[in-house]
Amino acid sequence: MSTTTTAIKTKKMQKQHAHLLFILCFWFSVVAAHSWSQDKQFNQAKNYEGSSDLVNLQYHMGPVLASPINLYIIWYGNWNPTHQSIIRDFLHSFSSSSSSSSYPSVADWWRTVRLYTDQTESNITGNIVLSGEHYDTKYSHGAYLSRLAIQSVIKSAVTSYPRALPLNPHNGLYLVLTSSDVRVQDFCRAVCGFHYFTFPTIVGVTVPYAWVGYSGKQCPGICAYPFAWPENSGRPPPGTSEGNKIMAAPNGDVGADGMISVIAHELAEVTSNPLVNAWYAGDDPTAPTEIADLCVGVYGSGGGGGYVGKVYRDSRGSGYNVNGVKGRRFLVQWVWNPVKRRCFGPNAVD
Ligand SMILES: *[C@@H]1O[C@H](CO)[C@@H](O)[C@H](O)[C@H]1NC(C)=O
Repeated sequence: MSTTTTAIKTKKMQKQHAHLLFILCFWFSVVAAHSWSQDKQFNQAKNYEGSSDLVNLQYHMGPVLASPINLYIIWYGNWNPTHQSIIRDFLHSFSSSSSSSSYPSVADWWRTVRLYTDQTESNITGNIVLSGEHYDTKYSHGAYLSRLAIQSVIKSAVTSYPRALPLNPHNGLYLVLTSSDVRVQDFCRAVCGFHYFTFPTIVGVTVPYAWVGYSGKQCPGICAYPFAWPENSGRPPPGTSEGNKIMAAPNGDVGADGMISVIAHELAEVTSNPLVNAWYAGDDPTAPTEIADLCVGVYGSGGGGGYVGKVYRDSRGSGYNVNGVKGRRFLVQWVWNPVKRRCFGPNAVD
């Protein structure tokens, strides 16, 4: 969720990929979502699948989200119900208890995140329950939102009449999702999503939240990767496609399927670094490199440097790496495994 300059170092990097990597260097700098501030453009590609000595992920003594999480969605703007059900099913797929999905499942993917603990030796919870949804169809804070205005959107959702969301500072987590026509500060230019915590002066309490924008219209080539590929950047990378054909989205919508991985990215980071004082690499807490930042663009074994890695293909050729409820399939990026000291996901072949 944050972009921090990091060195490219990968065994798989080859000379002939230099052109592609140059594009990716630029592109990953644009893609990585982050916590709060971010000024560093032109970062380099992040790929640590095979190299752990470069990563200095540290624990900074703050809490992780260890209690069962009540997740609340705020649908901001004009949402397509089909897209909403893809996202809802994804969120319903997290809890191991509710998991009726075959291996590797979303809950199996979440197991890597659960390896993180805080100073009380409490692991991140495996219990994420979608506990409420709010529809802000009237664009309560307009069609352009600054980063700080996301907190006002949460405030409106917990105070609206009728049907306010509960304000739950104990185990609440708020996920603000903006529709295709909503512009958000830095969206597409620097971030696809971010997480932070609310200020008591705006919302009344401190509670973690994340925002992710629907990218199908404004910047699919950036935020719905690898189902879309930036224009003017040449061929898609090897493994995403045959020739110039891009990987198809498993639930049929480039924007919603692309958001899934960004939502997963943000949930991994908000739970492991909810107050931005727990798990991150780098010396700058205003631009931390968090557990999903380390693995942006990696979805399977061998991934990195522009190759998504070994993922599954369904009968229509859509790419996915985990199963969800109701027979759904999703493609989610890997996260850093603190035990193996590399990016990892349940679809790993080794
Ligand atoms: C909790 O974290 C520790 C340290 O990473 C790990 O050994 C243990 O398996 C984790 N427990 C669960 C339930 O994930």
